[in-house]
Amino acid sequence: MKVTIVGAGNVGATCADALAHRRIASEVVLLDIRENFAEGKALDMMQTATLNGFNTCIAGSTNDYAKTANSDVVVITSGIPRKPGMTREELIGINAGIVKNVSESLLKYSPNAVFVIVSNPMDTMTYLALKETKLPKNRIIGMGGILDSSRFRCYLSLALNCPANDVDGMVIGGHGDTTMIPLTRLASYKGVPVSQFLSAEELKKVSADTMVGGATLTGMLGTSAWYAPGAAVATLVDSIVNDQKRLFPCCVYLDGEYGQKDICLGVPVIVGKNGWEKIVDVKLNEEEKTSFAKSAEAVRNMNNVLSSVTN
Ligand SMILES: NC(=O)c1ccc[n+]([C@@H]2O[C@H](COP(=O)([O-])OP(=O)(O)OC[C@H]3O[C@@H](n4cnc5c(N)ncnc54)[C@H](O)[C@@H]3O)[C@@H](O)[C@H]2O)c1
Repeated sequence: MKVTIVGAGNVGATCADALAHRRIASEVVLLDIRENFAEGKALDMMQTATLNGFNTCIAGSTNDYAKTANSDVVVITSGIPRKPGMTREELIGINAGIVKNVSESLLKYSPNAVFVIVSNPMDTMTYLALKETKLPKNRIIGMGGILDSSRFRCYLSLALNCPANDVDGMVIGGHGDTTMIPLTRLASYKGVPVSQFLSAEELKKVSADTMVGGATLTGMLGTSAWYAPGAAVATLVDSIVNDQKRLFPCCVYLDGEYGQKDICLGVPVIVGKNGWEKIVDVKLNEEEKTSFAKSAEAVRNMNNVLSSVTN
């Protein structure tokens, strides 16, 4: 299986490393606009093959899309982070231009690929990629909820003082500090509701920490995180290329599901070789439904900014 990752920066390169290390793909192409950057990262990773025991072929490319031809999955991580003094409209304008051009180039060489969108603001960039490529909705997936859920499970495990793999939980809604919704009511420790072990106050803190999970790391690192984002993208790609039918919260096009239309937002979906194959209808309570509607409103406002900068 061939996977192309556009953007050989922190997240893209970490994802490529995980795809090889975990033997998820037989061929990975890393593409970047910076001269020789992707080639350098790919060569460095290839030199770990005998050390890490993988046979994945990793190739780099400076903007030559012919090398990405016939990919099964394409991942878009290209974009810039917000810089001091830059308005959100300017950031959206720049990243929208990048995501639009990259999507068109990828589509030309890999018309049958499943597209995974990572660039921020991810919910809006996923919507843009869907509208620009005009691909069937199932083949466009935004990755944000898998990362947010792994942060949620990490904070829950720290509060419970147990291994993170013994904890289950999901974050739905938008991929933003104020738009994501950690579903604490449904989180469990080996199948037992976490509310049996943690107080309402402790759960509130876990939620709050999860929601600012990305911002906390940006404050510590001076740029956004990459280990967990890269691993989260690789986990999503694994479910696609190996047709695992895993259940993840992903950003997908809603056409009435969860009470929303004409928007891409994080909901639980089944992911397999055709992309997202089914939206899972989790029964939300009134409070969760209200949060979801608010999240949709915020993402829709961002999408409206997008139409003002791209028209
Ligand atoms: N969805 C998520 O969960 C999530 C998590 C972390 C980061 N992100 C987002 O992912 C994006 C990448 O983050 P990063 O930390 O890897 O940034 P980075 O700056 O390390 O890497 C971005 C790379 O994109 C390349 N690039 C820019 N324009 C390009 C183009 N037109 N074609 C090809 N390559 C191009 C740059 O040269 C750079 O190497 C950002 O938008 C970031 O906000 C999303």
